[in-house]
Amino acid sequence: MLRFPEGFLWGAATSSHQVEGHNEGNDWWEWEQRPGLIRDGTCSGAACEWWTGRAERDLALAAELGHNAHRLSLEWSRLEPEPSRYSVAAFDRYRAIFEAAARAGLVLMVTLNHFTLPRWASAHRGWCEPSLAERFADFAEQCAKRLGDLADLWATLNEPNVLAFMAYAGHRWPPGLGDPRAGFSALGHMLRAHRLARSAFRAERTDARVGLVLNVPRFEAARMQAVRDRAAARAQDWAMSGVVIAALHTGWLWPPLSFVPRLDGELRGAIDFMGLNYYGRYRVRFDPRLGGRLFGRHVQNNTVRTEWTDWGEPSPEGLRAQLVRLGALGVPIYVTENGVQDRDDVVRRSYLVSHIGAVHAAIADGVDVRGYFHWSLMDNFEWAEGWASRFGLVALDRASQSRQPRDSALLYREICRANSLEG
Ligand code: FCB
Repeated sequence: MLRFPEGFLWGAATSSHQVEGHNEGNDWWEWEQRPGLIRDGTCSGAACEWWTGRAERDLALAAELGHNAHRLSLEWSRLEPEPSRYSVAAFDRYRAIFEAAARAGLVLMVTLNHFTLPRWASAHRGWCEPSLAERFADFAEQCAKRLGDLADLWATLNEPNVLAFMAYAGHRWPPGLGDPRAGFSALGHMLRAHRLARSAFRAERTDARVGLVLNVPRFEAARMQAVRDRAAARAQDWAMSGVVIAALHTGWLWPPLSFVPRLDGELRGAIDFMGLNYYGRYRVRFDPRLGGRLFGRHVQNNTVRTEWTDWGEPSPEGLRAQLVRLGALGVPIYVTENGVQDRDDVVRRSYLVSHIGAVHAAIADGVDVRGYFHWSLMDNFEWAEGWASRFGLVALDRASQSRQPRDSALLYREICRANSLEG
């Protein structure tokens, strides 16, 4: 029996736009309406109908499935539909959802922003506009004032690194600028937004713990002896997450985050916890033709992919290694996302068991891991993949809105309830 520490958080994660439905005031809603931008041609639409009443029932279902915690996010475009005009009704709706979570016995982790921007904020190149950081800090302050009493664990931004790559350096997500320099500029502004928002939040709620959620995949040389494979893997790791981890550790913004190395002392240690989103491993092979990808081609086997997205090869060892790496930051770590797209639930059970085993191994290595949130509670709108990628512990029938826990949800229930894994 691999036992987990007392009070360990077990749950699943969701995000506002992916489950609420009809988030018509954000940049994603507008993006989805344009033809050809969502791989399967779908839109978020009514999503999982959380906004119109189903959140409460799904949180109760999560509790029935053994969870004692849930990670969700707020929708900025609902709460601040116009600059500096806050919606009392929207705050009330979240208050009702948070209270339902508490009634169900779920500890909440709340992310202030999970990718989507209000349209008024995205109109000016989104996060490339420096003043958005101050606006985000004002929003964080309002959230602390109006909802801060209902949760202790808050994350500012979800995966600023993935957003920078997909939406600013890349063109698959809004605003789709497709310019690597815009990617690193947006990332720099998001890190500043993170620390401003954390300060603003904590000024209102001194006891809140405010962290950041980062996606940290594992990049490994395809041929361990090949110097150039190793160099390409290191370069990809640095650009994707290493440069951000270094900034949080030391306050130094190194290239490519900053043109010349620059110190932002207030960023050093500006986290009360770190959230790790981890999906898989990439094996990197040197390829002189791929300058734009830092000369690395991904050649792993058994990778989880569609023709648009590659989540990498399931690798629990990679999760353990990234937990150990983040543990060096000296703050508690939560696995804030980990999961696999698997409509037929063929690999999810072994994925769950092996990755939870890796979390246990990291704890045995001395890392202060406090919780595990599986992505996701139920099938939901998977960004540019649309509804085709099914990540849910619970299967969703969109037409009837009926929910059916997959076998993996029942297996996970055993683990959550026992607070342990059979070794
Ligand atoms: C992460 C996102 C989450 C979901 C999963 C599959 O990058 O944070 O919203 O899309 O991937």
